[in-house]
Amino acid sequence: MPDLTGKHGLVVGVANKRSISWAIAQAAGAAGARLALTYQGERLEENVRDLSEALESPLVLPCDVTNDQQVAEVVAAIDRDFGGLDFLVHGAAFAPQAELSKPFVETSREGFRIALDVSAYSLVALTNAVAPLMERRGGGSVLTLTYLGSQRVFTNYNVMGVAKAALESSVRYLAADLGPKNIRVNAISAGAIKTLAASGISGFSSILQVYRDRAPLRRAVDQSEVADAALFLLSSQSRAVTGEIVMVDAGFHAIGGA
Ligand SMILES: NC(=O)c1ccc[n+]([C@@H]2O[C@H](COP(=O)([O-])OP(=O)(O)OC[C@H]3O[C@@H](n4cnc5c(N)ncnc54)[C@H](O)[C@@H]3O)[C@@H](O)[C@H]2O)c1
Repeated sequence: MPDLTGKHGLVVGVANKRSISWAIAQAAGAAGARLALTYQGERLEENVRDLSEALESPLVLPCDVTNDQQVAEVVAAIDRDFGGLDFLVHGAAFAPQAELSKPFVETSREGFRIALDVSAYSLVALTNAVAPLMERRGGGSVLTLTYLGSQRVFTNYNVMGVAKAALESSVRYLAADLGPKNIRVNAISAGAIKTLAASGISGFSSILQVYRDRAPLRRAVDQSEVADAALFLLSSQSRAVTGEIVMVDAGFHAIGGA
């Protein structure tokens, strides 16, 4: 198992026990890392505080990723408490419900703006904010979560697919900018998993069934499988990997037509 002893990480995107980011936080904690977790707003604070009790001396902080001041406050708190940062896990994504249940061609300007701001720009803002803390540690690893809907059409995924395409492109541009500082930037493209975010997509259970029917491994994936791949990308075992989108989807992406 990759060793994260003595490392400090920031995990953004925990909402509840089914969150992929929570599985990654648990795995990183078990591998020896000390973590800061953020919650999106008061509504989620209790969930995140309760979950964080399973971790060793966590920092728990509010952070709406669309709020520059909250991002700055998170980074200042990490600077004070950790004195630097080794990795960032970015698992925040959102599109207004109305955009995920009608034809994509009817996407509103505001829905498009919100989806891209929360789900793609936030990676750029957070990475820029934590880069100085990582530089102090001689480098770091940034990891985000994406979905194959960036490249292929999935019913009702709609503007989230466009946001994930922007996110994946941002991974490559960030990797190019920050590589000289030994900061690596990668994404995991996870197969469909039933989480809070997924339940916002109309007809999500039929997407899950397609994985069971057609993925090479004839099944969907679970959070712990994404977390295992995440540990590799967060640790020095992946020290030569950057600008990469790692597919953790039971092989589904490899399959074409009948
Ligand atoms: N579940 C899947 O099938 C699947 C597949 C591939 C990729 N992903 C991606 O994984 C990531 C995590 O999603 P999940 O499935 O674990 O669901 P989740 O609902 O548990 O996590 C989404 C998180 O985004 C946060 N968020 C939304 N708006 C925010 C804001 N303005 N500020 C801060 N945080 C905000 C939510 O609070 C939540 O914690 C997302 O990027 C999602 O697109 C999910």
